[in-house]
Amino acid sequence: MIRSKDLLGIKELTPEEIYHILDTASGFRDVLRRDIKKVPPLRGKTVVSLFFEPSTRTKTSFALASKRMSADFVNFSVSTSSVVKGETIKDTALTIQALGADFVVVRHGSSGVPHLLSKILDISVINAGDGANEHPTQALLDLFTIQAHKKKFKDLTVAIIGDITHSRVAKSNIYALTKMGAKVRLICPPTLMPAEVEKLGVTVFHSIEEGIKKADVVMPLRLQLERQRKGFLPSVEEYFRLYGVTTDRMKLAKESAIVMHPGPMNRGVEIESALADGPKSVILEQVTNGLAVRMAVLYLLAGVKK
Ligand code: CP
Repeated sequence: MIRSKDLLGIKELTPEEIYHILDTASGFRDVLRRDIKKVPPLRGKTVVSLFFEPSTRTKTSFALASKRMSADFVNFSVSTSSVVKGETIKDTALTIQALGADFVVVRHGSSGVPHLLSKILDISVINAGDGANEHPTQALLDLFTIQAHKKKFKDLTVAIIGDITHSRVAKSNIYALTKMGAKVRLICPPTLMPAEVEKLGVTVFHSIEEGIKKADVVMPLRLQLERQRKGFLPSVEEYFRLYGVTTDRMKLAKESAIVMHPGPMNRGVEIESALADGPKSVILEQVTNGLAVRMAVLYLLAGVKK
């Protein structure tokens, strides 16, 4: 059972709800392997994407997930909308609802925008990334991918490397993995590590060699290159030398370890290109699984009484 009409963050989900989403996604993953990949459960429903930041994976997979479920999908283009004439996000969202949408999938640079929309809209709001807060469907597809390879979460060691302070993917994965019983290690320079993050039940490392030792899953995050201009990083080259995930460093993790990346990747910055394309990489599987997970999220939210 999913309790809320909205998916705002992993923080709000119970482990039971997470397992329910993963199990449902597993059924849709099978549908996606068939010749005919379209199923009818959302026929007559409309999904509108409201993205104030760029996206390749999330927006495209919500579009395809909607179409595979027989829903109509409308891509709201912020740059050619009345937002540029000064219309507020609240009025924009109320307009989308008045036009008959059933779901709004929102990405915004400010934390809390999906939560605000959730309070003013009767339709379902799905958080596709809000500022440095959360990116829940990314963490769900990451869990789905980990489960496919490792079968369980309990006591699995997951090393997350990157700009933890500014990463919504890191936040959602920390909430998700700790709820499921995994051991989460965070690895980054002190300038990119949030204060008191250990209170979330994670272990902090500043040495990548220490942090990825015997890990089951290694997950570098995209380095937000604009941070270098703001003085959080010495240089991109220095970052790769100290924190880049490479084939050599992967030898410190378990032999069976997998490498994940939420994308988009900066090859040669947070991850060695050959590793990203090599046998340990499950990066494109994550993308494929994202489609099944987003079908499951739409399907389950459609079943919640409004
Ligand atoms: N991982 C992720 O959110 O990618 P996009 O920005 O391309 O959607």
